[in-house]
Amino acid sequence: MSKIAVLPQRSEEARPSLGPADGLGSYEFSPSLVTLSDPSGVQAEAIRALRTHIMAQHVQQGRRALAVCGANPGVGSTFTAANLTMSLSQIGVKTLLLDCNLRTSGVEQLITPAAPAGSLRQCLETSTGFIGECIDEDVLPNLSVLYSGGPAPNAQELLASERFEDLMNSCLRDFHVTIVDTPPANSCSDARRVSTVVGYSLIVARRGRTFMSDVKTLVGQLRSDHAKVIGTVLNEG
Ligand SMILES: Nc1ncnc2c1ncn2[C@@H]1O[C@H](COP(=O)(O)OP(=O)(O)OP(=O)(O)O)[C@@H](O)[C@H]1O
Ligand SMILES: [Mg+2]
Repeated sequence: MSKIAVLPQRSEEARPSLGPADGLGSYEFSPSLVTLSDPSGVQAEAIRALRTHIMAQHVQQGRRALAVCGANPGVGSTFTAANLTMSLSQIGVKTLLLDCNLRTSGVEQLITPAAPAGSLRQCLETSTGFIGECIDEDVLPNLSVLYSGGPAPNAQELLASERFEDLMNSCLRDFHVTIVDTPPANSCSDARRVSTVVGYSLIVARRGRTFMSDVKTLVGQLRSDHAKVIGTVLNEG
């Protein structure tokens, strides 16, 4: 399995969150969104290297969605997914960050809306209505977000539904790239289901927290589900 990026440790320098007072619309952006808060730092540079790889080896081959899967909890999947989305939008790629973590979602802690347009949960619970109405469009230029709206007690059933497949197809139609955040793969099967629908996944492992055996197990599971693993990210933070 090829390692396609290494995320270095974050600098200790404390940074404020960015928001409306900085002319950034009605959203609050966490300092963890390093591609916005610290674009010249080493972490943002590593994310841009990951973006280059994904644009060349994935998007330009016509594969426009990618599930980001953590082998275990707290490894930085949301951090990677959100920063990758941000960096794609920064080069003018119309990108959606889709939060499919219906257990302990983290995207709204990184990009906090004053009032979200809707949520994945809401969209999957109602079988009617336009999927697009649930999406926060143009949070920043070229960057849209569909928040999770979780925790949902029936997360597995919602993701197993045909409506979820319709939603993915709609995202593929409306956005050039869709980056999908998922819950940790060793605690529930949601990440496997999402990866199967998306077709491609990127595995995040964290130094000192992820066992190699967890990564191998996940790669094997995804392969047997016919989801292509495009590589791994080693998070050293
Ligand atoms: N490279 C890094 N340097 C410093 N802090 C990091 C780094 N990567 C992640 N973190 C921090 O570690 C914490 C966990 O990261 P994150 O929420 O992205 O993990 P996760 O895999 O999505 O977790 P969960 O299993 O809860 O979904 C967050 O506070 C995040 O800001
Ligand atoms: Mg997460």
